[in-house]
Order: sequence, then C-alpha cells, then structure tokens
Amino acid sequence: MKELRGRVAVVTGGASGIGYALAQRFIAEGMKVVIADIEEKALDEAVASLGADGAQVHGVRTDVSRAEDVEALARATLDRFGGVHVVCNNAGVESGAPFLDIPLNTWEWVLKVNFWGVLHGCRTFLPLLKEQGEGHIVNTASTAAFATGLPTFAPYSVSKFAVHALSENLDIELRTAGEPVGVSLLVPGMTKSRMADAERNRPEGVTPSEAPERRAVLDMIRSAMKNNGLDPSVTADQVVDAILNDRFFVLTHPEETIGAVKARLHSMETGEPSAVRKPSGAQ
Ligand SMILES: NC(=O)c1ccc[n+]([C@@H]2O[C@H](COP(=O)([O-])OP(=O)(O)OC[C@H]3O[C@@H](n4cnc5c(N)ncnc54)[C@H](O)[C@@H]3O)[C@@H](O)[C@H]2O)c1
Repeated sequence: MKELRGRVAVVTGGASGIGYALAQRFIAEGMKVVIADIEEKALDEAVASLGADGAQVHGVRTDVSRAEDVEALARATLDRFGGVHVVCNNAGVESGAPFLDIPLNTWEWVLKVNFWGVLHGCRTFLPLLKEQGEGHIVNTASTAAFATGLPTFAPYSVSKFAVHALSENLDIELRTAGEPVGVSLLVPGMTKSRMADAERNRPEGVTPSEAPERRAVLDMIRSAMKNNGLDPSVTADQVVDAILNDRFFVLTHPEETIGAVKARLHSMETGEPSAVRKPSGAQ
C-alpha cells in the first residue's frame, strides 16, 4: 500500500500494548480504526482515549479464537466504515509450565488464540482485501517463532512458529499470484505491554502453573520488560514502514532473532545441542 490516509485498519488485541500502539499510529496516519479485544472494559477505555481528539475509532468485543466472532468483526467494520485495508492479527496470550505439567486445555487456549485467531483473521479478511484491490495483513509472531528453549514457553513458541509458517506461505502465494495484498510478519522481542499477565484472560478451567520454574521465568520477563522493554510506539513505526514498503519481516530485535536462527543452523550443521534461552532483554 502506498497511501494510508482515509483507509481503514482493524487491530485485534487493540486494547493494550502493541495493538494499542498500532491503533494510535494508524490514527496519526489519518486512518479510521477498528480495535477488537476480548476485554470489554479495556476495549471501551481504549476507544475513549484513542478517539479523544476526534479520530474515527470503533471497538468490537471479539474473541479471535472463535471464527464467528472474527466474521462479525469484519461485518461490523464494513458496516461502520465501508471498507477495510489493513488487518493486524495481533491478539495473543501466553501460558505454560514444565512440559508434563501443561494441561491440554492450556495448549488448546494458547493455540486457539495465537494460531487459530490469526488463521480466522486471514481467512475472513483476505477475500475482502482482494476484492477491494488493495490491502495489507500484519500477523504478530514473536522472537519465540524462531527461538526455542525458554523454560515453560512451549505452547507459546509452538503457536508462534505456526503463525510464522502460515504467514510466510501466504506471502509467497500472494506475491507469486501477483495479488494486490501484502503480508508482514511482526516479530517483537521484549516490548512493554501486559503480556506477562496474559493469564488474566484465561478461560474457565485453565489453571496457571505454580511451578517454581514458571514463576522464575515470569519474574524475569516482568523485570526485563520494565528495564529493557521496547516502547511499543517504536514497533508501530516499524509496522507502518513495512506496510508502505511491502516488507515481510518486521524484526524489532534483529540481533536476537537472527542470532537464534544462526544458532539453529549451527546446531544443524554441527550436531551440537541447542541451549536454554533467557527471556529477551534479561540480564
Ligand atoms: N510484549 C512483548 O514483549 C511481545 C513479544 C513478542 C510477541 N508479542 C506478541 O504481541 C502481541 C500483542 O501482545 P502485547 O505484548 O501487546 O500484550 P498485551 O497483553 O498488552 O495485549 C494483548 C491483547 O490481546 C487481547 N486478547 C487476549 N486474548 C484475546 C482473544 N481471545 N481475543 C481478542 N483479544 C484477546 C488482550 O485482552 C490484550 O488487550 C501478542 O500476539 C504477543 O504474543 C509480544
């Protein structure tokens, strides 16, 4: 896309953190914005603050893990603003434990939000973008889509590997076919947000782990986020640049992400085992 002014953006997980910063940045570009989130109160507050200066902002309570909610989000966007151009499949959660302590419903929750939420977003919005003749999809992955070995993070990492594979396949297919729709993969490293408290949104029956390894890693993440976390407005600037220049990879911490890929290549070439990973930005 070469022009954002007057166009319409949809951002899932838009009530907090990276999603909120994306919405703010799109408004600064002169776009109309729909934010979707599962947290109703946070969503209402975000709509009020994003729209305080007269921007056109609409909130739609959405659980991205449900296809019917994402379809309703698309209908609400078209009803309100008459089109949709940029779709950020950004909502995400994290929960985990040492491998054998991870209940199946934790795997299901994390995969349903992080992977199926992105899949529903792509399947629902892509036909609208193609029909319209221009558009861009931004899927949020993570450094964990390239780096394994952070203790208790297996479900999250698996879900983000899947988002990476889905997005790369989609990008290649659309480019090869000459479609007018771009795809970017947002790969954040440690960024200031509420992600370390993602279990606030867990469905009934999903129990957070009390294992000491789990508490240790979450403590490390909270402190790294506070001390070294990137301001999400920087991430949002990078996303806008990637949309305007049709770039696939958006790496907020390139050294760390590329370093993880190189470490895997080294392991593949030499047979040396992979190492345990610390949270991004941890000392
Ligand atoms: N913050 C980081 O360091 C970091 C690093 C890598 C990747 N990410 C990814 O960035 C994305 C945004 O997360 P964030 O860091 O801003 O965290 P955040 O918790 O501040 O924001 C996530 C938002 O998603 C919403 N959400 C959760 N479940 C949902 C559902 N089922 N349907 C709709 N909305 C739902 C939450 O209510 C919240 O508003 C996520 O995909 C996350 O995995 C974040």
